[in-house]
Amino acid sequence: MRLLICAALLTVAAFPVRAAPADPKMLELAEKSRCLQCHDIQAKISGPPWIEVARRYRDTPSMVEPLVRKVREGGSGVWGDEIMSPNKRVPEQDIRTLVRWILTLE
Ligand code: HEC
Repeated sequence: MRLLICAALLTVAAFPVRAAPADPKMLELAEKSRCLQCHDIQAKISGPPWIEVARRYRDTPSMVEPLVRKVREGGSGVWGDEIMSPNKRVPEQDIRTLVRWILTLE
């Protein structure tokens, strides 16, 4: 029994939660908007990890609107050759909410 508890504690210690866990409501919106087919917070899928997007733009709030337009209309060339297809089915206000949230990730 004591061994089990030790093992459990070790497991917790081995995976420290560094950043605050991502807001589940935002993840739900991202899932519903199908962003997560191409994006993950930490990992590159075809799109860049959102944590990297946050690093690049978080000190430039004036980028929010251009990014909203880019997500709506799609594009490529900033992060490589992969293409983000247009996301016109997603309401603009939802994209704005997501972009604002993405830029707060750390
Ligand atoms: C089909 C795959 C795909 C989907 C779906 C997708 N993305 Fe992307 N996203 C990409 C790729 C690829 C890039 C990199 C584009 C580039 O290099 O310019 C990207 C880039 C971005 C960027 C950074 C843009 C820049 O110019 O730096 C943001 C922000 C973003 N995506 C948010 C979203 C959001 C929010 C959604 C959901 C509404 C979404 N993406 C859906 C593939 C996707």
